[in-house]
Amino acid sequence: MISYKHILLGLTAIVLITGCEIGDDDDDDIAGNHNQGKDCIACHSNFKVGGTVFTKLDASDGDSAAAAYNHTLKLALEEGTEIILAKGYGSGNAYTTTNTNTVGAFTAEVLDVNGKVVNSSGTLSHDGDMLRCNTCHSQNGNSGAPGRITNFRP
Ligand code: HEC
Ligand code: HEC
Repeated sequence: MISYKHILLGLTAIVLITGCEIGDDDDDDIAGNHNQGKDCIACHSNFKVGGTVFTKLDASDGDSAAAAYNHTLKLALEEGTEIILAKGYGSGNAYTTTNTNTVGAFTAEVLDVNGKVVNSSGTLSHDGDMLRCNTCHSQNGNSGAPGRITNFRP
């Protein structure tokens, strides 16, 4: 027998499922504006790596219009393994909370929406002390970086 209680439970479940789908929708997380170009780890102390992919070498901080939507970053490690960063919060942003204690030399690569490598650093030119990507890859570049991490070879 179906009681009012059952109907109410059913309705509650539908609301919860719908709410969950909205919250987890990938487009909400990987599109839009969220501190593009800034040092992610300055605010997110739980992140181990963070950076932004742009469509311009000299994009200013917060210029989400110049962020490379649906791109991400990969650390191709010396020993042949890799760390692919999660996309998001915001267009072009990427991060990981994966433990990086043992990360030594790596090649930094930019992946497009299909996972194809569209730009990279010099072979094994980066290392485990270079995980706050946007600190060097600033608007004009610090410590020898040419500027932003871009979705093309600058
Ligand atoms: C000025 C501080 C600040 C900077 C810089 C910043 N964030 Fe955030 N971020 C926040 C705050 C506050 C929230 C939670 C509020 C919200 O949802 O917007 C957040 C939420 C997030 C979330 C949702 C999950 C979570 O762990 O909280 C992700 C993912 C994220 N940021 C990624 C990034 C990335 C990647 C960068 C660097 C490109 C970055 N953020 C830079 C302040 C910052
Ligand atoms: C301490 C400074 C520094 C940090 C931090 C840094 N880089 Fe770089 N990056 C450089 C320099 C210098 C170059 C140019 C020489 C080379 O290719 O190594 C470069 C070049 C690049 C390039 C090719 C040129 C471009 O601008 O697109 C990519 C891609 C790149 N880095 C990605 C990354 C990623 C991803 C991170 C974070 C995991 C990162 N870098 C962190 C200094 C840095």
